Amino acid sequence: MAFLSAFLSCILLLSLSLSSSSSSSQFADGCYTSIFAFGDSLTDTGNYLSLCLKGLQTYDRFPFIGLPPYGETFFGRPTGRCSDGRLVLDFIAEHYGLPHVQPYFGGENLNLEAGVNFAVAGVPALDVDFHEERGIHFRNNISMRTQLKWFTDLLPSLCKNSSCKEIFERSLVVFGPFGGDDYGNVFFQKSVEESLEDAQSLQPLIVDAITSAIEELIELGVVNLMVPGMLADGCLAITLSFFYTSYNAHDYDPETGCLTLLNKFDENHNNLLQAALVGIRERHPHVSIVYADYYNASLQLYRSSEKFGFIKRPLKACCGGGGPYNYNSSVPCGYSPSQACVDPSSYINWDGAHLTEAAYKWISKAVLNGHFTIPRINSLCNLPYEKKAYV
Ligand SMILES: *[C@@H]1O[C@H](CO)[C@@H](O)[C@H](O)[C@H]1NC(C)=O
Ligand SMILES: *[C@@H]1O[C@H](CO)[C@@H](O)[C@H](O)[C@H]1NC(C)=O
Ligand SMILES: *[C@@H]1O[C@H](CO)[C@@H](O)[C@H](O)[C@H]1NC(C)=O
Ligand SMILES: *[C@@H]1O[C@H](CO)[C@@H](O)[C@H](O)[C@H]1NC(C)=O
Repeated sequence: MAFLSAFLSCILLLSLSLSSSSSSSQFADGCYTSIFAFGDSLTDTGNYLSLCLKGLQTYDRFPFIGLPPYGETFFGRPTGRCSDGRLVLDFIAEHYGLPHVQPYFGGENLNLEAGVNFAVAGVPALDVDFHEERGIHFRNNISMRTQLKWFTDLLPSLCKNSSCKEIFERSLVVFGPFGGDDYGNVFFQKSVEESLEDAQSLQPLIVDAITSAIEELIELGVVNLMVPGMLADGCLAITLSFFYTSYNAHDYDPETGCLTLLNKFDENHNNLLQAALVGIRERHPHVSIVYADYYNASLQLYRSSEKFGFIKRPLKACCGGGGPYNYNSSVPCGYSPSQACVDPSSYINWDGAHLTEAAYKWISKAVLNGHFTIPRINSLCNLPYEKKAYV
């Protein structure tokens, strides 16, 4: 029933936008009036930087994502996004005719009606205390659950004018990706010998944590979810540099040059996540849950880089402090003497750990046209094709 009314309100909004084509394009290509987002640096549109500037997040050196050339391609200034421009979330918002999703800690006049982004760069899916007990350190006590709590705390003000149910029927929740910072910190803080096994043992726990969080959102009334999987970490300049001397030639995929073991690791995470989503769909048939396959969407860029306008073998970071993949953790992008490439749009990798706007743009296209989602979506409302056909 909730699905049906969500669909009816789509039709209503669509006919509204059709009958007044000269007015605002707010509903131009979608039926959502707001987006709520959770996640890490792939989705953070400014929270981490704001937390640092407000003194709520500690750091040794000024956060490099707050320095040029971050943001140079689209915003013309650093916005706290870990890229030269827009992220996948920004392209999703644009696709649905909505403003870029505002960071929760972005400023005084947060317009709740347009949605809120709770994603923070560097946060794990599992609680920080859990990791600390296992000798894995995080700078701050912010996790996926913290973001969920911020969201829950916001509900009384969010649902003041309309009921939460009505608001969530018209909202898209983008949940993730999560896990990259749990795994990354295990890989970078433990020895190569023990890290893979340790990280593997976290996979079911992380997928369970994501599942519980999604179930909680559904309890609160959320009915439209997009859940992205992990990217291909074995293709990132940061991992390729970190493991530079650890592996042999046959550990690299000859076609892409990516580290096979790490990509298999991500595939396993993504397959566990998709299996969990099947379970959630069965338990909550009225909820639309779309898996966004960032992994395969990004792999096609590495495989056919020139077709997409990128350089051949695009594994090097555009912006970094040198080395075989132009990544050096002591000279991050933003700090001297690191340097950025002249044309970021010809690179997939921006700063070692994150992708360029050009790469995110292709990934979002691949997701939003439905080719890299499960189930395939109709770009109109994100509803699976089958459900639309049924209505
Ligand atoms: C981190 O936050 C959680 C949840 O708010 C809290 O229970 C825990 O005590 C905190 N841990 C530290 C080390 O501050
Ligand atoms: C509620 O309505 C007031 C007055 O129209 C408006 O200023 C405010 O932004 C609305 N709040 C939400 C959460 O929609
Ligand atoms: C995409 O990635 C998954 C990992 O989740 C893998 O198992 C699958 O075969 C890939 N699918 C396609 C269509 O390439
Ligand atoms: C990283 O940069 C530092 C400082 O310039 C330098 O001392 C070090 O050798 C570099 N490391 C690599 C692996 O290039």
